[in-house]
Amino acid sequence: MQNIRLKVVAANWKMNVLPSLAIELMTQYDIDFNESQPQIVICAPFTHLCNLIEKVKYGFHFGAQNCSSEKMGAYTGEIAPEMLKDLNCTHVIIGHSEVRQRNSFENHQIPAKIRRALDSGLKVIYCCGEHLETRIANQESIYVENQLRDDLRQIAEADLENMLIAYEPIWAIGTGQHALPEQAQNMHAFIRKTMAEKFGKSAEQLSILYGGSVNASNVNQLSQMPDIDGVLVGGSSLKPIEFKSICSAFIQ
Ligand code: PGA
Repeated sequence: MQNIRLKVVAANWKMNVLPSLAIELMTQYDIDFNESQPQIVICAPFTHLCNLIEKVKYGFHFGAQNCSSEKMGAYTGEIAPEMLKDLNCTHVIIGHSEVRQRNSFENHQIPAKIRRALDSGLKVIYCCGEHLETRIANQESIYVENQLRDDLRQIAEADLENMLIAYEPIWAIGTGQHALPEQAQNMHAFIRKTMAEKFGKSAEQLSILYGGSVNASNVNQLSQMPDIDGVLVGGSSLKPIEFKSICSAFIQ
């Protein structure tokens, strides 16, 4: 069957890039936008989004790296999904392992964050993935299956068109040790099967991205795997030439 899923390359700048240098980095990406390019989503810090969305008119989509589970109100220091939507932000990352690790309440908040973001009209890049010990113990499938069950309990099949899943094994994030293409493919196929059992056949259209030490040298093999529909890129998204080649690997 022909793979008609949307190809997506998402950049996760994390807490990098000064606001005054963000436009310069975007310019250096030097992407030639045409219909064959994957969708490119730049997930920048909150402080950068307004300016980027206003000034970069062409081609890119913009996303945040987190959001509140609450509606606007008395939540000091938080950012409501409605605010992101109002800026014309299109995406938000939810459940990134760096957030889960630094905030012990994060795991409990993820279902409500996803629901609120979807209800606000944002597309959700939902992250899951196992620790190294879990992989060594061959428990990665059960671990990710439990994450999907717990984190996605407030969504229904109709929401899948606004969801993307990023499989990011924690041992591969920022370590230079990416998952082998076969390891990633096996997990992506497992995620798709689990999603189909839980939500129905719309899971076939779901874009599942791989994240964890993606670079220009390993992306081509990853992109050839049938269930890898794109990548979520941290460190390499800060290197314009590298990022451009990563995008090229998903040209259709
Ligand atoms: P990395 O990060 O590409 O630097 O490993 C990926 C991510 O955390 O999304």
